[in-house]
Amino acid sequence: MSDRPILTTSAGAPVPDNQNSLTAGPRGGVMMQDYQLIEKLSHQNRERIPERAVHAKGWGAYGTLKITGDISKYTKAKVLQPGAETPMLARFSTVAGELGAADAERDVRGFALKFYTPEGNWDLVGNNTPIFFVRDAYKFPDFIHTQKRHPKTNLRSATAMWDFWSLSPESLHQVTILMSDRGCPVSPLHMNGYGSHTFSFWNDAGERYWVKFHFKTQHGHKHYTNAEAADVIGRTRESYQEALYGAIEEGNYPRWTLQVQIMPELEAEKTAYDPFDVTKVWPHADYPPIEVGVLELNRNPENYFAEVENAAFSPSNIVPGIGFSPDKMLQARLFSYADAHRYRLGTHYEHIPVNRPKCPVHHYHRDGQMNTFGGIQTGNPSAYYEPNSFNGPVEQPSAMEPPLRISGDMARYDHREGNDDYVQPRALFNLFDAGQKARLFSNIAAAMGGVPGPIVERQLAHFKRVHPDYEAGVRAALHAAHGYEADAVGAAAE
Ligand code: NDP
Ligand code: HEM
Repeated sequence: MSDRPILTTSAGAPVPDNQNSLTAGPRGGVMMQDYQLIEKLSHQNRERIPERAVHAKGWGAYGTLKITGDISKYTKAKVLQPGAETPMLARFSTVAGELGAADAERDVRGFALKFYTPEGNWDLVGNNTPIFFVRDAYKFPDFIHTQKRHPKTNLRSATAMWDFWSLSPESLHQVTILMSDRGCPVSPLHMNGYGSHTFSFWNDAGERYWVKFHFKTQHGHKHYTNAEAADVIGRTRESYQEALYGAIEEGNYPRWTLQVQIMPELEAEKTAYDPFDVTKVWPHADYPPIEVGVLELNRNPENYFAEVENAAFSPSNIVPGIGFSPDKMLQARLFSYADAHRYRLGTHYEHIPVNRPKCPVHHYHRDGQMNTFGGIQTGNPSAYYEPNSFNGPVEQPSAMEPPLRISGDMARYDHREGNDDYVQPRALFNLFDAGQKARLFSNIAAAMGGVPGPIVERQLAHFKRVHPDYEAGVRAALHAAHGYEADAVGAAAE
């Protein structure tokens, strides 16, 4: 007698034969009443869900955030109090590639974190860069179209990318990071993570501070050149999954140091730059990073689909003591993610185990597809509406963030007006040594193959405004790579 479990239908009945269809005679046809065959094929047809519209390819793991510093004077959030240890989930990703894309591609990396705090889930859905390509959400879908496939050729289009970037100088800062060494990290272990947007902290006294989050790798920055990346992809398309999964299995746990930059609320009115503009950093000299704690990843998921593909991160998930900022991009993201989750995962995506808070949840949402919690989350079957006389859950005023003074005439303000797009890329360019600059130039030249001359020249004019050496270096690299000549404007770079 075998001690193996009995194979059953999903309704629990034993399956007599999982190898041979039920047929009329040995040569068929197949009987309609072989419903288990139909069930098996139907399930297969439903094994895929829509991939994420962006950041489709990803790698995830569980871990812990330990707070070693003391920022309690800025925030009342329990997750950030001295000594707090909070279980969490991380998902890293590339932006443009589809679900099966190769890992070692030049692209921005997503750095999404979900902290299961005692006050609800706090998600920080950032990137491995401290800034972004655009500063108004109206530009986000257009930008992403340039990163995805051309509608006719079904190929990625360098022309679309550089056309958009050269017409959107606010992208210069991020384009410079993307084309620099940090545009192709060796693995998630060897890159920083950033909250990127400005968020806010508030304390028990009702004081607000603006905050930027930084996760600094403890394993050193390591990157691939284009040639090294091509070689890696030729050998394996899954180098990040292998590195992250393997490191955790070996007990070589990936770690990052959490730092914050803090700006008192009213100082935001005095900075030379807009501190809520996601294309800008706050210079460290003005707002020195403060060490807060350590993020460690120490457990691999048991089931990739259930725990990583089903994971739903949203910047709108905050907890008392942490708030948003007026950043226009952040404001749009607060809508977009939960909307994506309802489409991609279903109405009750927050009830999927990986997304479920680890604190009590009481709300008055009812019914809906895949409601597996009985329709009522109030803990009291008579309290299914609000207000009620049956001891249903009530709001908690202590979770109210302090009032924020905002003013201004309602209008569509030109986000390019009065916004310098060259100073910070220049500060970055000046950080690069000669080797880093040479690789920046050749990476850009490689990425510009086939781009029409007028678009190349428009982009070169932006590089020149950052630094004359930037333009000269890219121009020389374009000539070396594609025989590109300025006179040939109108022709393609290849
Ligand atoms: P600092 O010299 O004080 O800080 C430089 C920052 O740049 C460090 O965080 C460092 O990260 C990072 N950095 C170093 N080399 C590179 C590189 N090759 N590519 C990308 N980032 C790099 O200068 P500032 O704060 O005045 O910033 C100068 C420029 O540095 C900015 O314009 C911005 O482009 C870039 N930067 C600034 C950050 C900030 O929050 N202020 C954050 C990241 C980049 P690390 O310590 O991990 O090496
Ligand atoms: C994923 C929208 C800007 C980081 C996504 C998804 C959407 C989206 C719809 C897929 C979500 C899902 O299906 O689960 C937007 C919009 C933006 C924007 C509308 C601008 C208005 C940004 C910025 C960053 C960022 C500025 C980083 C600073 C990420 C990350 C993911 C993601 C890391 C993957 C999350 C995961 O691992 O599941 N974005 N995004 N996005 N986005 Fe954005």
